[in-house]
Amino acid sequence: MKHTAVTFRAAKESGEKLSMLTAYDYTTARLLDESGIDGILVGDSLGMVMLGYDSTLPVTMEDMIHHAKCVTRGAKNALVVVDLPFMAYHTVDQAVENAGRLVKEGGAQAVKLEGGVAFHDQIKAIVTASIPVMAHLGLTPQSVNAFGGFKVQGKNVKTAQQILDDARAIEDAGAFAVVLEGIPTPLARKITEELSIPTIGIGAGDVTDGQILVYQDLLDMYGEMKPKFVRHYAEIGTQMREAFGSYIRDVKSGAFPDNAKEGFAMDESIIDQLK
Ligand code: KIV
Repeated sequence: MKHTAVTFRAAKESGEKLSMLTAYDYTTARLLDESGIDGILVGDSLGMVMLGYDSTLPVTMEDMIHHAKCVTRGAKNALVVVDLPFMAYHTVDQAVENAGRLVKEGGAQAVKLEGGVAFHDQIKAIVTASIPVMAHLGLTPQSVNAFGGFKVQGKNVKTAQQILDDARAIEDAGAFAVVLEGIPTPLARKITEELSIPTIGIGAGDVTDGQILVYQDLLDMYGEMKPKFVRHYAEIGTQMREAFGSYIRDVKSGAFPDNAKEGFAMDESIIDQLK
């Protein structure tokens, strides 16, 4: 069954937890889809895990469209949500135009943007253009400079109230779901109980309607640091390094390739006939 913004909302009503992961390429999207994932986010985290920047800020619309195209070719059943990158939705006109590009050129089924009350009008305008919007609140990585680093948000009355007000605003604007990132579990619980749309948590505890992780974090493929909210389900980084090392050793020693198993034979007399 193809997931859509409508099936996501229905999942909240039926109490079914939603599973999401990021993907940025065809092969990973296919593997996730075949595994039964509910939703795939083409996150602007691609700036860090695919392009090697130290934040998501340099990511462009062209980057997002390029990776969205790869993912949508691989995802048959999962809902594909694509991030609007930093400074691509700061006016209403810009937001609608760029959301439209992600759908028309990238094949997105929905777009995600970071922000609440301040982006009410952008969300409303995109939804009015028949493009489903997933909002993103809490530790929103595009605000890393304003936050002074990647820090948990909403730990005091003022900031918790702001995030709750943001959640109310994005629901009012017509968002079909919201990512809650890096906020305390009790605040995530309050928002999840109050909103009628699904909350998807990352570092927000077990109280949200679904979970999302960056797949390189889940597979331990990216960097040395393990954020507290990440669980490693496999040590693929270690396995890749071991496999690459074995290949290099076999090439150097001549153990790869083995002509009998990995080479192509021919009638040797043909070689004798060559001038
Ligand atoms: O860009 C991204 O991957 C995200 C997730 C961390 C939610 O926004």
